[in-house]
Amino acid sequence: MTRLICVASGKGGVGKTTVASNLGAALNEFGVSTLLVDGNLTTPHLGFHLGVPLYPKTLHDVLRGDATIDEAIYVHPSGLKVIPGGISISDLKSTKPDKLAEIFLELLGTHDFVILDGAAGLGREPLSGLEATDEVLVVTNPDLPSVTDALKVIKLSEEFGSHILGVVLNRVTGKLHELTVDDVESLLGYPVISTIPEEPKIHESIASKTPLVMLAPETKAAIEMKVLAAKLAGIEWTPPKPKEAGLLARLFGFLRK
Ligand SMILES: Nc1ncnc2c1ncn2[C@@H]1O[C@H](COP(=O)(O)OP(=O)(O)O)[C@@H](O)[C@H]1O
Ligand SMILES: [Mg+2]
Repeated sequence: MTRLICVASGKGGVGKTTVASNLGAALNEFGVSTLLVDGNLTTPHLGFHLGVPLYPKTLHDVLRGDATIDEAIYVHPSGLKVIPGGISISDLKSTKPDKLAEIFLELLGTHDFVILDGAAGLGREPLSGLEATDEVLVVTNPDLPSVTDALKVIKLSEEFGSHILGVVLNRVTGKLHELTVDDVESLLGYPVISTIPEEPKIHESIASKTPLVMLAPETKAAIEMKVLAAKLAGIEWTPPKPKEAGLLARLFGFLRK
């Protein structure tokens, strides 16, 4: 059975593409066949996160009927499969997201997981992503603007009859001004199934076009994303302990107490 999952948020910049690419990489490492699809038709970024070279065929070509789905699948060196979006201005102007649902129907039976990196906002583009998939993973940051927009996505997903898998709380620092897990759960009415800390190496991972779970698997953020992947796929995985801070950092941490 193929699971069609949309990674959605409402507000942009909360970490959808980061979560989608790492989730895909983690599932692939677990041996689960996974296809990532860039649902950001106006501003596709997934290809950049995964080092997809300028690809001859993209989702835009498939949507226009100029390529088959198979022609637009790029295989990452790790084995993870990706359908990137087209980044040219003509792609931007000529694309209609309505056909996304048809494409996803065709993908049924091809992989264990097909994960759509959803578009931000609540317009036609993100809505067509919700329509094309059956399950939704809601990503938010621990602040009111992102949680408010996450609530809108949740309400729309409920209207589409999608199953909401839960909330991924991303970029958590634990500072006092942040909303807590309890706050987010009571505001959204769904459980927080993953808490991902702020991780400076994520910027390095995007720059080096390598998902964090591959670049720095010892970081807490990478471990959390692998735990999430294992949870979604029903795999038992015992996470390693996140790497300890160096001796100097621990000494200073102790002195600061
Ligand atoms: N856990 C994290 N720690 C630090 N930076 C993060 C984290 N998650 C995402 N980011 C950064 O936030 C920015 C937006 O992330 P992105 O995945 O592109 O969001 P979206 O797809 O929702 O627009 C990127 O610069 C990314 O490096
Ligand atoms: Mg994105």
